[in-house]
Amino acid sequence: MKTNVLLPTKENIQQAGEALRNGELVGVPTETVYGLAANALDPAAVKNIFRAKGRPGDNPLIVHISDIAQIEEFELVSEIPEKAKMLMQAYWPGPLTIIMKKGSVPDEVTAGLDTVAVRFPSHPVTQRIITAAQRPLAAPSANTSGKPSPTSAMHVLHDMDGKIPYIIDGGSCEVGVESTVITVAGETPVLLRPGGITHEQLEAVIGHVDISDAVIHKLKDGETAASPGMKYKHYAPCARIILIKSDDNGYINYVNAHSADSTAALCYDEDAEKLNVKTYCFGAKFDFDAQANRIFDVLRKIDEDGVENVYGRCPDTTGKALAVYNRLIRAAGFEVISLA
Ligand code: TXA
Ligand code: MG
Repeated sequence: MKTNVLLPTKENIQQAGEALRNGELVGVPTETVYGLAANALDPAAVKNIFRAKGRPGDNPLIVHISDIAQIEEFELVSEIPEKAKMLMQAYWPGPLTIIMKKGSVPDEVTAGLDTVAVRFPSHPVTQRIITAAQRPLAAPSANTSGKPSPTSAMHVLHDMDGKIPYIIDGGSCEVGVESTVITVAGETPVLLRPGGITHEQLEAVIGHVDISDAVIHKLKDGETAASPGMKYKHYAPCARIILIKSDDNGYINYVNAHSADSTAALCYDEDAEKLNVKTYCFGAKFDFDAQANRIFDVLRKIDEDGVENVYGRCPDTTGKALAVYNRLIRAAGFEVISLA
């Protein structure tokens, strides 16, 4: 199959909508990362998503809408809890996915769970594609399972070339990491995946929100993840990444003492001039927005360059940096060296 990368013109968006109605897959831009979309109400189309990504069947998908009224129109959930309404009011459309008790969504989407994840993206092109499809769209990130999420149409083409008919090119993604995932299906709201909307922002609207253990720690063997996606080694480049938890000088001295061929540093912008190895900067130390925006692109570049060993800075865990930390410790397979 030839994969066509198309600009988001009116005609091309209509064509994407029609392809989606016909059960085909389309790569779509969103404000977070690119998605691999299919009609969420068509089980056969949804199965093709799992096939194209090589995604384990027990990892559920997010259902994307372009209007809050579609939740009721398509009976996506059995009820909308009060806290969900407050979050929708505050942060939709935007990089927030809300998990609620499911309505009549195919089991292929929810991987057999009794809950469903719903997101209303803010990217105007995503909204237009959903509206053109006239259906909610199931869409995971458009990467091959286990690889860094795509933040440009070229990243999607790299992973999906020959597997899908269309990719709509909406430019590079502003947020750069996937949406925040929160469940309000239980007694206490739980943050399952940190993203563009921070833990602090969630608590400002609905009060206390637990943070799932899997956000920060590696799951023990046999432990079940509240969000199935968290149990897989995710966002993994080919290089071995080791995170160094340390102050500025400790990091720089450690990396310079361990420099060798095919070793590189995944560092803050300010570190670059002091390091003796090839550097991949992912933003200034306190610019968490830039770090989120750049992290996946930088991880892909590391692979393109065939780097073997990478010493990375261990990101902060406050605000939006928690999302960057969560992705990087997974890319590092939880290998962290702490220099006291
Ligand atoms: O920003 C995003 O969320 C992007 C764009 C395309 O919208 N999508 C995305 O989808 O990141 P994906 O499939 O890569 O990640 C969805 C995450 C997974 O970790 C999955 O396990 C979790 O959400 N998830 C989905 N439905 C769930 C449910 N019912 N209960 C718990 N976790 C769920
Ligand atoms: Mg993903």
